[in-house]
Amino acid sequence: MSKKFYITTPLYYLSGTAHIGHAYTTLAADVIARYQKGKGRQVHFLTGSDEHGANIEKVSAQVGKTPAQWTDELADSWQKLWASLEVQHSDFIRTTEPRHEKPVQRVFEILLEKGDIYKGSYEGWYCTPCENYLDPAELVNGKCPLHDCKAEQAREETYFFRLSKYQQALLDHYEKNPEFLSPKSRSREIINFVKSGLQDTSISRSKVSWGIPIPGDPKKTIYVWFDALLNYATAVGLAEKLGLPEGGALSRGRKFDEFWPADIHLVGKEIYRFHAVLWPAMLMALGLPLPKKVFAHGWWTVNGEKMSKTRGNVVNPEDYAREYGVDALRYFVFREVPFGNDGDFSDAAFAQRYNSELANSLGNLLSRTLNMVDKYIGGKLPGDDYKGGELYAALAAHGPAIDAHMEALELDKALDRIWCAVAEMNQAIDRNKPWVMAKENPAGLEPFLLELSAGLRLVSGWLEPFMPETAGKMRAQLTAPRKTGEKMAPLFPRKEAAKPAK
Ligand code: MSP
Repeated sequence: MSKKFYITTPLYYLSGTAHIGHAYTTLAADVIARYQKGKGRQVHFLTGSDEHGANIEKVSAQVGKTPAQWTDELADSWQKLWASLEVQHSDFIRTTEPRHEKPVQRVFEILLEKGDIYKGSYEGWYCTPCENYLDPAELVNGKCPLHDCKAEQAREETYFFRLSKYQQALLDHYEKNPEFLSPKSRSREIINFVKSGLQDTSISRSKVSWGIPIPGDPKKTIYVWFDALLNYATAVGLAEKLGLPEGGALSRGRKFDEFWPADIHLVGKEIYRFHAVLWPAMLMALGLPLPKKVFAHGWWTVNGEKMSKTRGNVVNPEDYAREYGVDALRYFVFREVPFGNDGDFSDAAFAQRYNSELANSLGNLLSRTLNMVDKYIGGKLPGDDYKGGELYAALAAHGPAIDAHMEALELDKALDRIWCAVAEMNQAIDRNKPWVMAKENPAGLEPFLLELSAGLRLVSGWLEPFMPETAGKMRAQLTAPRKTGEKMAPLFPRKEAAKPAK
């Protein structure tokens, strides 16, 4: 296995603030990145912002700002949010940075020279929030099905990317690399789409001025998707790889071949096609290797409804982090829904899992174990050379399954498994009744309590990628010499089920 591990999130549009859907993808990437770091790999975790296009231009104009002012402010607030959710990304790329814009222009020139980009004219139905022409068959009563807004008839002289040329090469790649389209359940749709015939795609806009100018035709700008997808490469040294004069500085010293290909592009299902069809075709045109995996997860609804500003049901991750703690949020979203599927967010489900799984099952297990350790064995904890007995061996046996789930991106299954271990420890306490052992079998008590402490230490290690702060607290309490009688704060104070205050 290569030591390097490169994972990305989509670059989010800065048309507003982040909601739970955006946080979900970024947190998932963070969980996976932390896991791989823990396994000793050199992780590069990229996220960032997609800042060009008509939509950003429109939104900033509405609040009387230039797109540049607006995106500066928002890029800042998004980065603060990621920091507050304990996201440890290695880099945050903005598509308005020269390190991105310059190599994107160079890519355009290279593909134009090669004939993979050519000039023509295009007529069709345009959806501004999608920043895309829609197939007439996709429209519902003349509206974009995703954004529920009227698509407009548009015609323009445009540059095309010769996507059709890569149809067979894409199909061959999917077949030879069954891991590329992930999860498996989403591969069929992409394969059928490509098999049904790929059209060349328009990659320039004459009506959008807030974008990267086309070299030699500066009244036109590059289509936002063609621009934004390239971030995954520009952020890790594409400028230098393409031999740009200032390539070294633009690449921030990163050597493209040390990072590329990416190991995982993590995206939501609605932008899977761009990542599974257009992007690999662009890479093929450039003669660059393809990412190893493009993984699309599902969408969150809220109380069964689509999240939208007009419905007023947009979930702000900060509200939940404030009310329940960052780790509880990081736990809930991955425990509640099989990773890859759609899911529903509700206050009731959040409070229920928080109280029963975090406060009760895990939090109580830790506090009652440490209380008994203090009370019965004078605060003794297992040493580094601890070998354990039957219970400890049974708990440790979950490790390989947890690893396998994490490698397969089955984040929910990994958590299920960790909670099996937690349940087994709780059951062992109920069965063995240490308070009875203290009277009837005092010799058995110390080994039993040491097994529980050591088992909890395993759990803290498994939890680190999901709940870094909790894992740290657990480890500290289970390692430091104990001062008996010291009261400790509960890991997860119980909460009444209530909507978090805004
Ligand atoms: N800018 C493009 C991506 C370009 S990538 C080169 C874009 N941005 S976005 O701001 O709309 O973010 C979309 C992503 O946010 C989704 O793909 C998904 O990762 C996440 N989500 C947005 N809403 C979501 C839900 N309701 N549920 C789960 N994730 C969602 O598309």
